[in-house]
Amino acid sequence: MRWEEKALAQEAKKKGARVVTIDAKILTLDSTSEPKQIRKEFGDVALERCISYFRGLHVTAYLEAKGLTVINPHEVGETCGNKYLTTLALEKAGIPTPRTLFAFTAESAKEAAAKVGYPAVLKPVVGSWGRGVAPLKDRESANTIIELRDEMDGAMNQIYYIQEMVKRPPRDIRTIVVGDKVIAAAYRYSPPEEWRTNVARGGKTAPCPITKELEEIVLKSAKAVGGGVLGVDAMESPEGLVVHEVNNTVEFKGASQVSEVNIPAAIIGYVLELAKR
Ligand SMILES: Nc1ncnc2c1ncn2[C@@H]1O[C@H](COP(=O)(O)OP(=O)(O)O)[C@@H](O)[C@H]1O
Ligand SMILES: [Mg+2]
Repeated sequence: MRWEEKALAQEAKKKGARVVTIDAKILTLDSTSEPKQIRKEFGDVALERCISYFRGLHVTAYLEAKGLTVINPHEVGETCGNKYLTTLALEKAGIPTPRTLFAFTAESAKEAAAKVGYPAVLKPVVGSWGRGVAPLKDRESANTIIELRDEMDGAMNQIYYIQEMVKRPPRDIRTIVVGDKVIAAAYRYSPPEEWRTNVARGGKTAPCPITKELEEIVLKSAKAVGGGVLGVDAMESPEGLVVHEVNNTVEFKGASQVSEVNIPAAIIGYVLELAKR
């Protein structure tokens, strides 16, 4: 369990809820189980907090099929955990998001990178913590990085997601959305010798005001992916804010350090509200 899961369990207990923490890694699910039995084991409502995207997604599908309310719903998880689907959802909702080209072979990915222009960014469609998010600085390095990707196993590695490099300050913004509220926001500054701002890569947080502009774009983004408990991430581009990612099982340790709001308590409040319905 990460710091976040421990904090969530603690807050839930403080609020008098019966908490069961379930490790999906040692879980066996039976297709024939009765919904009543599943409710007994899992409770009234499940907060899905798997580190593995695919594991979390499949456990969620199961629990929903057995009649449980899961936060976040399967559909939301599917969109958020997949940057390709997230970009499509944001674009469809008219939310400013970095221009992204998609390609399905190394050859066309090279052309896509040239079309976006250098520097560009190549990202794994499924991934987090900045892992594999690679700057494509010029044609030579782009072609080599794409060729290396081509050698990698896994069907998802043949989906190329190539994005314009946003001219932002050395920081981005992590916001935490709970239902219809932006409860916290934090700047994340990239550490020395690193361009990515992920806290998992040593990024440092600082307080960030929740301006009208930020609140509006963030709530619109949350709605575009289906809503729930989300981490909506934005960058300050020369043209204004752009949303580049929505996280389904959001980490908030860094934001907690600089926020006056008790983030895990707010999340649990929302979960308990849903449990009552
Ligand atoms: N288009 C971009 N322009 C500039 N910086 C970017 C861009 N995309 C990502 N980054 C940087 O890389 C980090 C990781 O990218 P992100 O898309 O959030 O992937 P992950 O899911 O791995 O966190 C971002 O937090 C940001 O600092
Ligand atoms: Mg990110």
